[in-house]
This record gives sequence, structure tokens and C-alpha cells, in this order.
Amino acid sequence: MPRATVARIDLDALKYNYQVARAKAGSAQAMAVVKADGYGHGIQTVAKALATDARKFAVACLEEALEIRSAGLSQSVVMLQGVHSREDMALCSQQGFEPVLHNNQQLQWLAAGRAPAYWLKVNTGMNRLGFRPSELPAVMAKLEEGGQRAELQGFVTHFACADDTSSPMTAEQTRIFEQATQAWPTLMRSVGNSAAHFLPEQPLYDWSRPGIMLYGASPMIGKTGSDLGLKPVMTLEAPLITTRTVKPGESIGYGSTWVAESETRMGMVAIGYGDGYPRHAGTGTPAAVLGQRIGLLGRVSMDMLAVDLTGVPEAQEGDMVELWGKTVSVDEVAACAGTIGYELLTGVTARVPRDCY
Ligand SMILES: Cc1ncc(COP(=O)(O)O)c(C=O)c1O
Repeated sequence: MPRATVARIDLDALKYNYQVARAKAGSAQAMAVVKADGYGHGIQTVAKALATDARKFAVACLEEALEIRSAGLSQSVVMLQGVHSREDMALCSQQGFEPVLHNNQQLQWLAAGRAPAYWLKVNTGMNRLGFRPSELPAVMAKLEEGGQRAELQGFVTHFACADDTSSPMTAEQTRIFEQATQAWPTLMRSVGNSAAHFLPEQPLYDWSRPGIMLYGASPMIGKTGSDLGLKPVMTLEAPLITTRTVKPGESIGYGSTWVAESETRMGMVAIGYGDGYPRHAGTGTPAAVLGQRIGLLGRVSMDMLAVDLTGVPEAQEGDMVELWGKTVSVDEVAACAGTIGYELLTGVTARVPRDCY
């Protein structure tokens, strides 16, 4: 019999969150970002579930775009990192993938064959990828000369600080983007990770690119997904495999970091960092059993972790513990582990089966 540890994937919640993104995008359309295996939920599952609503998907790389085609979906797929070779560019034109081109090497590959529909990345201050605004006129002239101007869909930029409502950076990047692209008003513009959907007055132009919000986790500092009206999509669960009472002075787990001050009923749960549960989540990190919140005790091991069952005396072996999901948000667990929901969701390992409903 397989271990009961599982990540349950609520597809109705996913569809609901996509509608939230759409509503917040206003007149912009929302391309569904499904990279990193659909943020750990399963790229094909997620893409199929959104296929009736989403007209475009966005991924990081070619392998992910091909997964969407293998799922039998024909939507256009935006490749946010562009391509890594000339051959990949040819595959994009065959498959209807839209690379976001961000350097001169990619423009050379573009000129070397039949151009796919593509976008240009503009660096407005994130300084990861993209052409500087001052370079755009020359790039556009070259595309015109080379005969690849017609396939250009538009311009893309990415915000560095949209998760922080007190930062002036997003407004500044927006100003730079508008100025940089105003000479080509017929081309489309795409800005807006999930966080930008929650910034009042933020223009999202033609296409926004929501990712984490589709999965019900928060893109905003200090807020959970449910604070933002989102529904959690993944519930990570594992069974209690033993329960016992430890005596005052006894410790639990590696390093003996947690020592009982009084008699404590505890349980061991069949999940650990080998499943992607964060090892940095310490004593007190929330979990839930039988709908009641409990806390972790001591260090997380590779295959198991300990929880305090003092407050839930009826919990017993075989009961499922929610590590994150509807009772405990992934954002809370992430905060306890010093990270973000993105890392936890994308980090659930292949050992954990995904069970969609
Ligand atoms: C270029 C780009 N657009 C959109 C997204 C989606 O961001 P989020 O998951 O914060 O919505 C990402 C994610 O990293 C990205 O790199």
C-alpha cells in the first residue's frame, strides 16, 4: 500500500483564482503563468484546467512549452526567457511558441530563419533581462531592415518590487516602460506579475501575467492568499504514523533541539524535507489535524516531522495532517521557514503524488 502523503490539487480553486486575476486585470487579458511545473501543481493538469478560459500560457523555457503541446493544447505559449539556441527559434515558429527576446544573440537567431511571433523584453530597472530603453530605437530599426518587424507582438517588462505597496519602484518602472514604448503605439504591452494586480491604479496594458495568485498563494508582503480573496489550490497532507507522550526533560528528533517542559502528547507525520517540506520550519510552525491547528516540534527530518497533539487528544495514527492548504496557508508556513510560498509550492518533490479533484 502506498504512503498516504499527497498533494491534493483543487482545480475549481485554480479556475476561481484565474477569474480573480481576470477581473483585476480589467481591460487587459491575463496569460496564465504555468512555469516550474505549474508552480509545483503539475503543468499539464493546470494548463488543461485553465484551457477553456486562458488564451495564452507563459512558461520559462522550451521544455515547458512542449509539455503544453503534449497535453494536446493549441494555445500560444509565451516563453519568458526567450530561446537558448537557433534550433529552438525554429521550433518556436513550428509550434506557435512566442519567445520573449532579450539580447542581441537571440535577435541574430531570429534573423537566421523564419521568425515566430515574438516579444521584446525591455529592462526598466529589474536589470535581469532585456534591452535598455535607449537601445530600443536601434533594435526596432534592425528588425525593420531584417524583415522581422511584422512578427513582433509587443513589449514586455517585469516589476522588481510590486509585492511592496510602499515602494516607488513600480510606478517608476511603469513610467520608464511607457516612455520607452510610446513610439510604437500599435504594438501590445505586457506587464504585471500577480502583485501588480493588487496595486490600485496600476495599468496592466494588453496582457498581464499572473502566476502565484492562480495557485492561491500571496504575492504581497505580509498578506496571505486568503487575505487577498484567493483560494488555496494545493493541500499538502501526510498521515500520523505514531503518537506518544514524552516526559519532561525528554527531547525529540535530530539535535534534540526541542525538550519537553511538561508531559506532551506528540505525533510523527510521514513527510519531511525529502518531500519538499522546508527544513527551516521550526518548532511552532503551524499545521492542522481534524480541522484544528497544531504546531511542529523540533527539527524536520528527511521523511518525517513531529507535531504537538496536546490540544487535539482525539487525533490518532492514520489521521491526516495538513501541512498547508485550507486551514494553514502556505504563506504562513513560508514565513516560519524564512521563505516565500513560491519556493514551497515549487519545491514539493516528485515523491509526493499529486491528486487532482
Ligand atoms: C517575467 C515574469 N512574468 C510573470 C511572472 C509571474 O509572477 P508571479 O508568480 O509573481 O505572478 C514571472 C514569475 O517569476 C516572471 O518571471
